[in-house]
Amino acid sequence: MKVLALLSQKGGAGKTTLAVHLAVHAHLSGERVALIDIDPQRSAGDWWRAREDKMPALAECHPRHLVDALNQAASRSIGVTILDTPPQAGPVAEMVAGLAGLSLIPCRPSPIDLRSTQRTVDIVKKVRARAGIVLNACPLARREGAEPSITREAREGVAEFDIPVAPVIISHQAALSHPTMDGRTYIEVFRDGRAAYEIGELWAWLVYMARDADYRPSR
Ligand SMILES: Nc1ncnc2c1ncn2[C@@H]1O[C@H](COP(=O)(O)OP(=O)(O)OP(=O)(O)O)[C@@H](O)[C@H]1O
Ligand SMILES: [Mg+2]
Repeated sequence: MKVLALLSQKGGAGKTTLAVHLAVHAHLSGERVALIDIDPQRSAGDWWRAREDKMPALAECHPRHLVDALNQAASRSIGVTILDTPPQAGPVAEMVAGLAGLSLIPCRPSPIDLRSTQRTVDIVKKVRARAGIVLNACPLARREGAEPSITREAREGVAEFDIPVAPVIISHQAALSHPTMDGRTYIEVFRDGRAAYEIGELWAWLVYMARDADYRPSR
């Protein structure tokens, strides 16, 4: 089982958005997927409850029960577990980074977000966790090939963290923030849309990054 954690101390960076869309994408790709929400805000859980389709599967738990939840997922032949986590850079984040095969840190393209991301980067480095950063909610280019300066500056900023940066940038799109009435995400409805393409590219990179990081059930 692969365990992917969305991690960032900064609230609103896009942890939940990316967690649910990556979970849906992996599910559509034929994986057995579980989404585990350990954030007391329960945003991923609320998203899941509003859905008619009950796949990907959901579990919600207190961070101290995360190991049990992961062991249970592994025992149910889950292939991919995605963890949505609270906006913290304390012991919970350290524990999560230590358990996950890969931690993905979303970062919005702004100086405030870049500075705050440093604390999450420090945590993954401290516990020697495998991690990567993805720029999220970047402005769309007005024309093909014309990268907005906000995005270029953010790319230069995240390169300084000295951890791998996703080769795909997730753009700011309503398609990623508004599910349909039956709780489906737009990537389920418009499988050829831009949001689906970007999430698919991100997923492909994450699969590559986590290629030899399998979860070993413990305790
Ligand atoms: N790429 C995007 N395009 C458009 N809207 C986005 C994108 N990413 C996130 N959002 C929106 O930004 C808001 C915050 O995103 P989200 O809830 O995923 O962040 P979070 O890191 O989980 O926040 P928290 O730390 O509070 O849990 C939400 O309204 C979400 O719909
Ligand atoms: Mg969240």
